[in-house]
Parts: sequence; C-alpha cells; structure tokens
Amino acid sequence: MTSPTLVDSLSAALSRREAKSARRRLTVLPRTAVDFSSNDFLSLSTSSAYRERFLAHLNNTPPSFPLASGGSRLLDGNSAYAEELENFIATFHQAPTALLFNSGYDANVGALSSIPQPGDVILYDELIHASIHEGMRLSRAGPRKMFAHSSPIGLREALQPLMAEDPAIRNGQRNVFVVIESIYSMDGDVAPINEFIAVVDDLLPHGNGYFYVDEAHATGVFGPRGAGVVQELGVQDRMFIRVHTFGKALASHGAVVLCGPETRDYLINYARSLIYTTALGFPFLAAIRTAYELLSSGETELLQHRLQQLIRHLRQQLDDLHTPQSVMFEIDHFPTSPIISLRTSHPRQLASLCQSKGFVVRAIMPPTVPVGKERVRVCLHAGNTEVEIDGLAKVIQSWLERSPITESKL
Ligand SMILES: Cc1ncc(COP(=O)(O)O)c(C=O)c1O
Repeated sequence: MTSPTLVDSLSAALSRREAKSARRRLTVLPRTAVDFSSNDFLSLSTSSAYRERFLAHLNNTPPSFPLASGGSRLLDGNSAYAEELENFIATFHQAPTALLFNSGYDANVGALSSIPQPGDVILYDELIHASIHEGMRLSRAGPRKMFAHSSPIGLREALQPLMAEDPAIRNGQRNVFVVIESIYSMDGDVAPINEFIAVVDDLLPHGNGYFYVDEAHATGVFGPRGAGVVQELGVQDRMFIRVHTFGKALASHGAVVLCGPETRDYLINYARSLIYTTALGFPFLAAIRTAYELLSSGETELLQHRLQQLIRHLRQQLDDLHTPQSVMFEIDHFPTSPIISLRTSHPRQLASLCQSKGFVVRAIMPPTVPVGKERVRVCLHAGNTEVEIDGLAKVIQSWLERSPITESKL
C-alpha cells in the first residue's frame, strides 16, 4: 500500500473541516448586493470625496516620483512622504510617534513578538484577534495568561496569583502587558478601558503595567473625528502601544503603531515583520494620507453621525422582530457599535436566505467564534439606507417565521 501523499493529507484535513461544517471558502458576491458585511464602516471606499482627493495626491507628484517603495523600510523603502505621514498620524492621535506597518497583522506580530522582554508577563483578553495570538506565540515573554472577555475582575483574578508567586512583578521589576482591543471584531462591544486602568493602577503601583490596545475596528468610527476609543476616553497617555489599522473604516491598507520614540526605534531594530518586508508604496501611503486628511478636517464626522443614526434604526427594527417561542434567536449589540450579532443555531441558513435576497451578511462559525456562539454578523455602513435596513429586517422576520425549531435554546 502506498503511503498518502502530501496532497492526500491536505485533502483529508479539508474533509475533516467539511465534516464539521467548518471549511472556509473564498466567495465573490455580486456588486449589486447590499453590503451589510464589510468593514468599510464609513463607506469611504466608494466615496467620491475620498476618490478625488486620493487621485489628486497621485497626480500632484512629478512623473518621476516612484510608485513602488523599492524595498524594506530599512533599505530603499523609506521616504520623506512616509515620515511626514507618520508625523501627521501621530499628531492626529496625540501620540509621541507613529510607525507604519504593511498591515494590522504585521503590526501586531511585529510589536508583540519583539517588545515584551524575556520573562515578562502578558495578560490578554480571551477574544483577542488572531494576529495578536501570533505575535504572542513568537514572543520571548514568560507567562501568558488569558482573562475573561472585557472583565476587569477577570484581569484582577489572572494577575493576582502571578503576583503572589513572583516578587519581581510585585516590586515592579518584571513588566506586565495587558493586551486588549478597544472594539471587538465579532461582538462589536467596546472594552471597559478605564476599569482596566483602575485594576492596573491598584495592583501594579510601581508602573510596570503596560497597556497594548488594538483599535482596528474603532479607527474612523469612534472618538473625536474617528480617532478611536482611547482618545474618546482621554487616556492616550496611559497606553504604551496603540495599533490603528487602515483596512477597515479608512478604506485603505496598512496599520500604524503609536508609541514613544524609544519604542519606535526598538521596533525599527527588532520587529521582523517591518524589517524583512517591502514597505508600502506611494499609492498606499497616499490612500492613508487621504483618509487621515478627511478625518482630521472633520469631513468624516458627518459619516460618523449618519452611521450612528443607522445603527439606532437597525436596532429598533431588530427589537421589533417577532420571534416564535420555539426559535433561539438573540441579538447581541453594544449600543453604539456598527457590528451586530444575530445569534442563532442555524446561522448559515439565515445568511444564505439574506444573500439570496440581495443582502450580504456572513455566518460566523467556529473556530472564528467559540462553539455555541455561532452567529450572523451584520455590519452597518454610513452608506447604507433605512430602506435597505428595513428590507433586511423583513427577510430576517420571514426566516424567523419558518425557521427550524431549535432543540435547545442558548
Ligand atoms: C482587531 C484586529 N487587529 C488586527 C487585524 C488585522 O489587520 P489587517 O487586516 O490590517 O491585517 C484585524 C482584522 O483584520 C483585527 O480585527
């Protein structure tokens, strides 16, 4: 008997996923479908103001201006344009410095794999993004401990036993990183950052507690002119690192790490996902610049307000749905968040009915969310309309009326 080939092994792994209904596939949805799924929260990627300003940036450079960066940021990939953009972003976010990365994934991998020092402690929220897990996996830190999602008590309970065991934590010699997102991508809830700060101040009075916050989903959507949740709370000086990504509400690509000058310098020297990759080329930098100009001029504030109106409208429509007793259907929603979860044990059915009616929503299944937390994820955008929302609500209502009886309610 011949032993299985590599391709046989790959196919078997896919079949196992298929059997668990967990096989992922690439899909292309029709352009005419209504977007209730993407992370383009401000609808900037189809905004004419964005497009015109972006094209003007491209056209206003001499023809000899290179489009490609030409190499790693540390070799030929740096430019005065990139450095000015970083200064502009740092000023907007009231941060000492900013360092661009090619993606949020790269930013989290680069920063978390390099900054926590050997033996340092990392405490992280249980729902933290995969890129943060990847960074932690590569890190030289010592204990890494998860705490209950957005729970200050959970953070306290995770930290206290480590402190009891290790005098270096108690006396401030060992660093403790607290890693959170400001808005979580699947549940759309906002982290209780002030309460976390209170726990750290209480347990680590020597100042060895360091916050690392990923603002990927808050960027452009929350805070003054879309600067994020941290600035909304005015606690930017308490964050050691903030990560903002540009691929969601900013309709672009890439990310920035906001930090002090020494940390920025350290990342330039040690973050392998920055050092060993070609830096963003001019069109990407111009797109990021365009987005930040729109934010800082206040032009996107109208979109932020419009988005909030639509969130309230959808929430009302969902609250008015009639759910038969026999059907498990719950709405998980943080009041001002554009991300809404429709919890059902049959998310694929609901998503495919919505898609067949021209509304793009996605079923989110394990392993992306824990077993039992399957849902249909609905994302709102400033460019959606009340009519579209009403149409979506009608389809959900029709599904509820003929949805399979749920054996066990959550
Ligand atoms: C919280 C969070 N961090 C980081 C990332 C990765 O950012 P990027 O898409 O720019 O790689 C994402 C999503 O993609 C995210 O949701």
